[in-house]
Amino acid sequence: MWLALTAVAVADKPIAIGTADVLKPAPVVVLSFPAAVFDHIKGPTAIFYFSPTCPHCQDVMPTVNALVGETAHEWLGMASSRATRLEIERFKTEYKPEFQILHDDLNAAFATAVSARSTPAIYIVYPREKSAIRADDPPNAVALRDGYAPFSRGMEGLFYLRSNLGSPFSHFDRYQGPRVCGSCHQVEHKSWVITHHAASYRTLYARDQATDTACVGCHVTGIDAPGGFTLADHASPMRDVTCEACHGPGGPHNPSTTKPVDPKSSCESCHDADHSINFSVAKGLPHIDHFVAADMSDEALKARIIAIGNGEAERPLLAFPDGPTAGSQACKSCHKSEHKKWSASPHAKAMKRLTGDKAAAETCVRCHATPKGFGLDSKTEGFHTDESVGCESCHGGGGAHIAAPSKENIVGLGSSCPECVIEAVCTSCHTPQWDPQWDLKSRLEAIKH
Ligand code: HEC
Ligand code: HEC
Ligand code: HEC
Ligand code: HEC
Ligand code: HEC
Ligand code: HEC
Ligand code: HEC
Ligand code: HEC
Repeated sequence: MWLALTAVAVADKPIAIGTADVLKPAPVVVLSFPAAVFDHIKGPTAIFYFSPTCPHCQDVMPTVNALVGETAHEWLGMASSRATRLEIERFKTEYKPEFQILHDDLNAAFATAVSARSTPAIYIVYPREKSAIRADDPPNAVALRDGYAPFSRGMEGLFYLRSNLGSPFSHFDRYQGPRVCGSCHQVEHKSWVITHHAASYRTLYARDQATDTACVGCHVTGIDAPGGFTLADHASPMRDVTCEACHGPGGPHNPSTTKPVDPKSSCESCHDADHSINFSVAKGLPHIDHFVAADMSDEALKARIIAIGNGEAERPLLAFPDGPTAGSQACKSCHKSEHKKWSASPHAKAMKRLTGDKAAAETCVRCHATPKGFGLDSKTEGFHTDESVGCESCHGGGGAHIAAPSKENIVGLGSSCPECVIEAVCTSCHTPQWDPQWDLKSRLEAIKH
């Protein structure tokens, strides 16, 4: 049944465009192996080609060991020609490979035979089938059936899948990681990479909070679940809010779920009242559009990936409800002391910084004054330039609150996670360009009212 799996269109959008390529058996390539290696190829064999001193090879060892015995392959290790005997012994002691290790000879005969360019790599080779043997086969001929060069963490799901093309999702009862989903769902993957979900672990790492258990759960996928994220594994393929944070482990392809997860029901487990005030699925969905990348130029896509990676990409501000603002004067009667403190702060005078025609330029005014409304077209609505950065720049529109004061109809900020919520409000103006020394704690202290 899975062999009939093909890309489909949902509302005219082609989903899973990479499927046919991922499920296509690779063309068989006949190679001539060095005799010492050839003698080991008795059946389907996975050869792990590595250098004992290469950090990527070391990183990937637990993953490779976990694959041993899970598929029909025999396993063999092949240390690159430049490795020394001592290095290989040390590697064995430290990483405990669960397979025999051979050493490519001085002429790198194995590497030459498979045209290896880098380590680590996995090559799948089969003995030549009797019926396929031809008179002009080279000596010690084997059939190369597949290759993962380079092989890295997060590709193990692909290894399983390609090892079992008749039933590719049989291992999808656990987390797979975005590279596996993205191999078929290529456009969805590209579109995800340019959202902040794809950098949510970086957000914590950059502020030295990546091992803070009060934070990590919502900024990674499947913490402590089989195949999911484990604390302090900074290179895990399950860091960040990946496909399966919303679609569940294995997504709709999970063979042990009868009813696929509705991804829309996942949002609020992380976007709760303290960590994402005023969030709604409807507000959030346009920002996770899985097909935006399809209409982007390569340059635009590249620029956005770099910006996300550097933590400099613009973020949508989800915190404020749509609607007009009333102006800070309207808050004064009930919030006298807050108003007094604010009036004396630089925020209340920010427009003074804009001289000449800058005082009317939206490119400047948008951060130096309060918008007349949120979610509205700011061009036609304009700004309260008389008050500069007023109460509602941080607390959202207060019209409903003034009419019937309550904590429910104003953005309080007091009980919110400062890093997740307040920082997002502040950094919508305090961007790296305008405030390179930004520091949440000291800046919050400075505006206390
Ligand atoms: C081997 C290719 C392949 C891989 C790998 C793959 N998918 Fe799919 N996926 C498909 C195809 C083809 C469809 C459309 C046909 C179908 O629904 O069976 C699809 C459909 C979907 C759908 C839509 C289902 C619906 O009914 O609307 C979602 C969601 C999805 N995949 C998520 C994922 C996630 C998450 C992963 C990774 C855990 C993943 N897929 C891995 C090929 C793949
Ligand atoms: C596993 C937790 C988790 C789930 C589930 C989740 N989010 Fe998020 N979301 C986050 C985190 C964490 C961030 C902040 C990322 C950062 O900037 O570090 C975020 C940021 C966002 C943003 C703003 C950043 C951007 O790139 O535009 C939007 C919009 C968003 N999420 C929408 C959604 C929607 C819609 C859903 C459900 C379909 C959802 N999220 C599900 C954790 C989650
Ligand atoms: C309950 C889930 C959850 C927990 C726990 C959590 N976060 Fe978040 N975090 C989110 C969500 C959701 C967002 C996106 C909020 C939005 O855009 O509305 C976010 C956004 C952020 C942002 C981006 C703010 C910006 O500049 O836009 C930072 C930084 C952050 N979180 C840091 C932390 C830290 C530090 C902790 C631990 C003290 C933490 N988070 C705990 C869910 C969580
Ligand atoms: C923040 C949550 C979230 C993340 C992360 C996420 N998705 Fe989705 N995905 C959704 C939601 C919600 C929908 C349903 C969209 C709708 O109905 O408008 C969806 C729909 C889909 C569909 C069906 C086509 C469609 O748009 O209706 C596929 C396929 C899919 N996702 C694959 C993926 C893959 C692959 C990844 C990772 C590269 C991924 N998703 C990441 C939430 C998410
Ligand atoms: C008519 C009097 C009145 C006016 C005008 C008023 N407020 Fe309030 N505000 C209150 C009261 C009363 C509370 C406390 C509600 C409670 O504790 O249940 C409050 C609470 C708040 C809170 C704290 C919410 C929380 O979660 O703790 C904020 C922030 C706030 N107001 C901002 C504003 C802003 C901004 C304006 C002007 C746009 C404004 N208020 C105008 C009466 C008013
Ligand atoms: C993205 C928001 C944003 C935009 C757009 C913006 N500013 Fe600012 N500006 C700020 C912030 C935040 C500060 C306070 C920085 C600090 O004190 O750390 C500031 C400070 C200033 C200052 C005083 C400090 C300094 O750097 O000299 C001047 C002058 C200024 N802005 C002028 C302008 C002009 C002129 C424009 C339009 C070309 C502009 N700003 C556009 C956010 C912005
Ligand atoms: C630069 C952003 C910013 C501006 C401008 C601002 N506030 Fe706040 N306000 C905050 C933050 C952040 C908090 C919560 C954290 C704290 O207690 O410092 C807060 C808390 C409050 C509270 C709750 C105080 C408490 O003790 O719980 C009230 C009421 C309030 N603000 C009213 C106002 C009013 C009225 C104005 C305008 C006169 C105003 N704020 C301007 C950011 C701002
Ligand atoms: C609407 C845009 C905007 C928002 C939102 C905003 N600020 Fe500002 N902030 C400014 C501008 C512009 C200045 C520069 C004022 C001046 O010096 O003329 C400034 C100045 C400041 C200053 C004084 C200068 C400095 O760098 O020490 C502090 C402190 C500050 N902001 C903290 C915050 C905090 C904390 C938040 C979030 C709770 C916040 N701001 C939200 C625009 C904003």
